[in-house]
Amino acid sequence: EIVDKGGYPHFMLKEIYDIPSALISSFTSLMEKYLSLSAMIVYGAKNVYVIGNGTSLHAGLISSYYFAEVGINVNVVSAAEFPYYALENIGTGSVIIAISQSGETADVIRSVKMAKQRGAVIVGITNSVGSRLALESNVYLPITAGPELAVPATKTFTSTLVVLRTLSLYTGLNSGKKSKSDIEKLKEDLNNLSKALSSNLPQIEKQAEDAVAKINSESMYVTSSGINFPVAMEGALKFKEASLTHAEGIQLGELLHGPIALTNKGYPIVVIKPAEEQAYDLYNKVVKSISDRGSPIILISNDGMLKSVETTRELSPIANVVPLQLMAYKLGVKKSLPIDTPPGLVKAVVS
Ligand code: AGP
Repeated sequence: EIVDKGGYPHFMLKEIYDIPSALISSFTSLMEKYLSLSAMIVYGAKNVYVIGNGTSLHAGLISSYYFAEVGINVNVVSAAEFPYYALENIGTGSVIIAISQSGETADVIRSVKMAKQRGAVIVGITNSVGSRLALESNVYLPITAGPELAVPATKTFTSTLVVLRTLSLYTGLNSGKKSKSDIEKLKEDLNNLSKALSSNLPQIEKQAEDAVAKINSESMYVTSSGINFPVAMEGALKFKEASLTHAEGIQLGELLHGPIALTNKGYPIVVIKPAEEQAYDLYNKVVKSISDRGSPIILISNDGMLKSVETTRELSPIANVVPLQLMAYKLGVKKSLPIDTPPGLVKAVVS
């Protein structure tokens, strides 16, 4: 398939604009029989590990909140660390959910092979149906986000979340915590989110540009709590890749345990308002502490400086990552960087 930039200056921007339609194609391309099979495998597992690298690892971290909700505890581990982590517990009855957009990442393939040798079953999640991961998996679920050419991953992250959320709901059918109506509700929520994103993207792009005009620092924090904490890590990764700016994704509560020492009037902090009401007290307390120290705060929320569209808690990582992706992109543009091909990086680390 030949893909062009479709009139956009960079693939990264085009691929962010692809997100609303990719969310829908990812959901509708999932086949019931493979979802049910994967869910049965996950539900019946002795232990479950979710592995991936970079953006795929961050999607995996978000899935731990999805699976917890249906009564399944998963261990989320970087595929680079998996060979040194709990291998003695991997055996017959273990299930590995391996996530890789390219399906070719060496750490993932190595870990999958090690786990298979010990008797584990592999559920692969990949955007490339002919990839090594697809071939090595016992069953795989396609991401169906369409080709992604910019090195900084964007639409494959949001579509991987669609796959993981759907898989968790199917697993919930087995555990009795979810019913078919929850899957219908997800479909409706995805349709609403897709429509809201489509119409708000130009406005969010403009807000992202205004927000980065205020950033003159080579380092910053991105912070949140709950299901959006991994989104902070993903945002920080986007800043590193697209704008060659150091950013650290950090939990709101952890900021108070040392990292706040760096904050001052020149040190920007991007705050994603948590989706969980229980975290609001913490959120208010931390925002007050960092504003007292004079740090410029860029707030991502339904009514923040950077508006994220309204959706459910479970889909809020999708709504919140878009302004972050656009900020990282705009900061890269401001610095005249080769955003789609950051120096020294490749789309897939295959060896
Ligand atoms: C994401 O923006 C990065 N380019 C990188 O971290 C990537 O997510 C990682 O290398 C894993 O790639 P994969 O999903 O193809 O396995």
